Amino acid sequence: MLFPEIETPALLIEQQVLLHNIEMMQRLADRHGVTLRPHIKTHKSIQIARMQLTPGACGIAVAKLSEAETMVRGGIHNIQIANQVVGASRVKRLLDLARLAQVSCSVDSPENVRELSEAFSTHGRTLSVLVEVDTGLHRCGLSDPEEIGKLCRLIDQCDGLQLAGIMTHAGHAYRASSAEEVAQIGRQEGEAMVNLAESLRREGFHVEQVSVGSTPTALHAAAVFGVTELRVGNYVFNDMIQVSLGVAAEDQCALSVLATVTSLPTNDRVVLDAGSKSLTTELGAHGNQRLTGFGKIIGTSARITRLSEEHGIIEGLDTRLRLGDRVRIIPNHACATVNLYDYAYIVDGESVRQQVPIDARGCVT
Ligand SMILES: Cc1ncc(COP(=O)(O)O)c(C=O)c1O
Repeated sequence: MLFPEIETPALLIEQQVLLHNIEMMQRLADRHGVTLRPHIKTHKSIQIARMQLTPGACGIAVAKLSEAETMVRGGIHNIQIANQVVGASRVKRLLDLARLAQVSCSVDSPENVRELSEAFSTHGRTLSVLVEVDTGLHRCGLSDPEEIGKLCRLIDQCDGLQLAGIMTHAGHAYRASSAEEVAQIGRQEGEAMVNLAESLRREGFHVEQVSVGSTPTALHAAAVFGVTELRVGNYVFNDMIQVSLGVAAEDQCALSVLATVTSLPTNDRVVLDAGSKSLTTELGAHGNQRLTGFGKIIGTSARITRLSEEHGIIEGLDTRLRLGDRVRIIPNHACATVNLYDYAYIVDGESVRQQVPIDARGCVT
């Protein structure tokens, strides 16, 4: 039996694959002379963040203040909140955080700039901000260069704020229909940001950081001369979404969910003890529902065709599974899956090496 000492469903991280993924992304960043800033929303683990910092990452990125607060408690002190911090209570938490660590955040509106300026200048502190640019995802960020220029001017005029640079996330690469399209989006991401930084510098703004990144576009955006920072998250584990995009191979996926066969009600139906509460119901990212099953069972071509909360159902099976057998499932979306678990097991083949807490699990505020 696979990992008899572990109760299922459980989160496994294959140590060698994890180390390899960390090393390869660091090498990519080093090769292009850009700093690597891993986004920890993927693993939410202090220990894994340290494993990324040791070979050379300059700091981390987070999506949420509570993730940042957790990482600061874990001794990590260079944090980019790659998101907007809006509203009095959050701004107060950001101020508290800035007393303990070097933090920056993204901005994309004059209202938010004024709110941050008032809070930080009142307390005699300076916050570094990056203007978020929309390079095609159409989520947050500005795309009109004139509006971006105006926001930079406002930041320069505001006490308590310092313009650190510009940032973007080309998440629309997840909607691409081919590897060529992913590459094209990556090049565009880098080039649009470098061109914008140059024109802002011509207007007299000090744009030090040109921060880009997503796992699919990393290879292409980091290669654009003038990009200074690569901000990537999913690469640390990879998942079936990356496999479906041609960005990673199955054997580069470090994360899996260990599940047990708990019912075999008919000849052609196998039921696992991992359902939507263990695997999520995700079939893709950013609107691209390209996956047809709820995770890939390692070593078979069987698909999990249906999920209920606590059950995963495999139909039309090409393998013989018996009651009590265990399978490893590569999740469709690693980042969302990790957030369902209190801890993960780092494994090396069939040996358990260590149990690691998912420290920032559930940190969504
Ligand atoms: C702002 C921002 N930066 C970077 C990333 C990292 O992207 P990926 O997980 O594709 O590497 C994300 C992912 O959601 C993000 O939202």
